[in-house]
Amino acid sequence: MNETTMEQLISLCKRRGFIFQGSEIYGGLAGTWDYGPLGVALKKNIETLWWKRFVLDREDMFGIDAAILMNPAVWNASGHVGGFSDPLVEDMVTKKRYRADHLLEACDIDPRGMTLADMDAAIKEKGLKSPDGNVLGEVRQFNMMFKTSIGATEDESSISYLRPETAQGMFVNFKNVMDSLHPKLPFGLAQIGKAFRNEIAPRDFIFRVRELEQMEIEYFVNPNDAAAVDEVFDGLYNQQYQFLTDDLKLTPSKIHKIDIDANDRAHYSSRSVDVEFDFPFGQKELLGLAYRTDYDLKAHMDASGVDLSYFDEETKERFVPHCIEPTFGLGRLLLAVLSDAHMEIKDEKETRTVLRLAPALAPFKACVSPLLKNKPELVAKGREVFMSLKKKFGAIAWDDNGNIGKRYRRQDEIGTPYCIVIDFDTLGENPDLLDTVTIRDRDTGTQERIAISELAVFIQSKLEL
Ligand code: GAP
Repeated sequence: MNETTMEQLISLCKRRGFIFQGSEIYGGLAGTWDYGPLGVALKKNIETLWWKRFVLDREDMFGIDAAILMNPAVWNASGHVGGFSDPLVEDMVTKKRYRADHLLEACDIDPRGMTLADMDAAIKEKGLKSPDGNVLGEVRQFNMMFKTSIGATEDESSISYLRPETAQGMFVNFKNVMDSLHPKLPFGLAQIGKAFRNEIAPRDFIFRVRELEQMEIEYFVNPNDAAAVDEVFDGLYNQQYQFLTDDLKLTPSKIHKIDIDANDRAHYSSRSVDVEFDFPFGQKELLGLAYRTDYDLKAHMDASGVDLSYFDEETKERFVPHCIEPTFGLGRLLLAVLSDAHMEIKDEKETRTVLRLAPALAPFKACVSPLLKNKPELVAKGREVFMSLKKKFGAIAWDDNGNIGKRYRRQDEIGTPYCIVIDFDTLGENPDLLDTVTIRDRDTGTQERIAISELAVFIQSKLEL
């Protein structure tokens, strides 16, 4: 077995319809990727597991789906207009722009905790050049929000932004949810949606992109008991970890908890923990957890003049709730799942690819095949089995191309956990085996014979593991 490379993953994703380059027939658009049929299925399965764990299974979480375009006052108040930036440095000859922290990392200099001036000094001291070998300019901040214009006129008053995080949609709806559902603290708002960042250097396939999807929770607590706030923070971290290991079945030894130093935290956070993951290109950020305090609600109260405080009926106290935010990048989770599940298995004859996806994540839960394509009675019985499973599970594949071995390889490559074959015994050639089929397990290669009437229960039991 080999280490998975990004080339292998990218090639598999294109070949089998998981992920394509954005606008590919026009030469692409940097930092954008399109999800094909199998990628959409995998992405939706991750979202469904997330929504179930963090919203449906809990009494204290409520869903939100806010507009991507928001009043620009939101982004002034949240601090994104002033502070949502990355350190940029320009090649003085080609005018190409680079992330200063990435250039330093590439020279084994750890940029964590560095100010702009520190980065500038480090670049000068080491005599760092651009990747094209030219002199670099001063390091400066680059705001990553995409600007757009609303309406028919384009002037200062029409400026808006594509949201760079889903979070603000939840802060600005805090009062609406309070007034309509009257939830008691602590409670959380959860949202899945697109966010946009004008990354200076999109890279590593879907890891760093300009159009991304986030799954975020803003969890509101009473700030007056610091120990209780810490307990909620740690509890949410444990839930994040369990989502990775129990739902997505990621390998625990590839998951790393990183406490973020004060200098490296986002402008709104007073405590941050990131989870990093061993991707094929190294250990990098997968998701985050931040204690945003009352930073956002206070900022929106000040800027909008609307009262966003909470009144505790029991203690008769009024206060602005604090917020703890678990945040997940959906594309990064998908990349972690794919890279962790991907294997190339070599034997004397061939090298074959297997995606060991958990059944709940796999784009297809099972594939149904007739042993021979040119025997109408096998095909008819196969279609009957296929349609009944498809009605129940939706995500069932049909494959009657090539020989059975080739069909198994094709399904292994896209992570289908079970292959069901209808043969002559199914039709009663051996009367003891009438209405039974073979079912092959992707990971062990073993086959067992089970009754058609038991197939749905068998598959359902595997989905719940
Ligand atoms: N609301 C908090 C927030 O947005 P963040 O650390 O900037 O925090 C949260 O982003 C998560 O979104 C990250 O942990 C990562 O998974 C994902 N993410 C951020 N920028 C990304 C990008 N350019 N491409 C892909 N995913 C990204």
